[in-house]
Amino acid sequence: MAFAQVGDVRLAYDDEGTGPAVVLLHGFPLGRWIWDAPRAALRDRYRVVTPDLRGHGDSEVTAGPYLMDALAADVARLLDALHIDRAVIGGLSMGGYVAFAFWRRFAARVRGLILCDTRAHGDNQGEKVVRQSTAQAALDQGTAAVVEGMLPKLLAPQSLTGRLDLVAAIRARLAKTDPRAVAATLLGMKEREDSTPTLATITVPTLVVVGGDDQLTPPTLARELQAGIRGARLEVVPEAGHLAPVEQPTATSTALRRFLDALP
Ligand code: MLT
Repeated sequence: MAFAQVGDVRLAYDDEGTGPAVVLLHGFPLGRWIWDAPRAALRDRYRVVTPDLRGHGDSEVTAGPYLMDALAADVARLLDALHIDRAVIGGLSMGGYVAFAFWRRFAARVRGLILCDTRAHGDNQGEKVVRQSTAQAALDQGTAAVVEGMLPKLLAPQSLTGRLDLVAAIRARLAKTDPRAVAATLLGMKEREDSTPTLATITVPTLVVVGGDDQLTPPTLARELQAGIRGARLEVVPEAGHLAPVEQPTATSTALRRFLDALP
């Protein structure tokens, strides 16, 4: 692990391997650890950079809200610090929202996109209300209270019932996220723009990946992404929920590798 001061925040990141750069962004309230397996599987041929987004993992907690544009700007500054001009930008769920924001702001720096267990549309009114009350609950009751409600939705049913070690490990990781960061991120996601109009603007090779049992961003939404982005490929990872790289690390890494190896 290394650290870089980018603007007003100190970010933790891993930077492994040599070759064309691939940046993989985690979801909420997760950390760069969700990409451990793909990073290990890709580093023989690619430079794989996995930051902890502000407030998450080992990165600094700052005042919120964490708008997706601000998180994208953090990633751009990290690339500057690492002397990386262009990269494939991948993101899981909220990481996908950040990848869309990065594309809108820094398209010239994007060689390809990997959209994993994510969606294009913004929050509707009901979702915004839930974000607001969940942010307050995190501040009032702590992260653990929020995590318990999320966990059943993050994993595939068979992971939840059959892989208790994995469930316990994920619960422990999630609970470590600072409640101020949980609130700041929820409030930032609530304000995110609808990326549906962005889809038609994407002109780089794109891979859409989704766990076959993802309840939060199901395969129907992944197919919408694929249909909206010219030439996009779709990989459905069987027996995985919302955390495909964690629940099925080998299959997910293989899908990423197939896509990256075929890039011009
Ligand atoms: C995530 O995994 O990043 C979240 O489920 C995204 C969201 O809450 O919209």
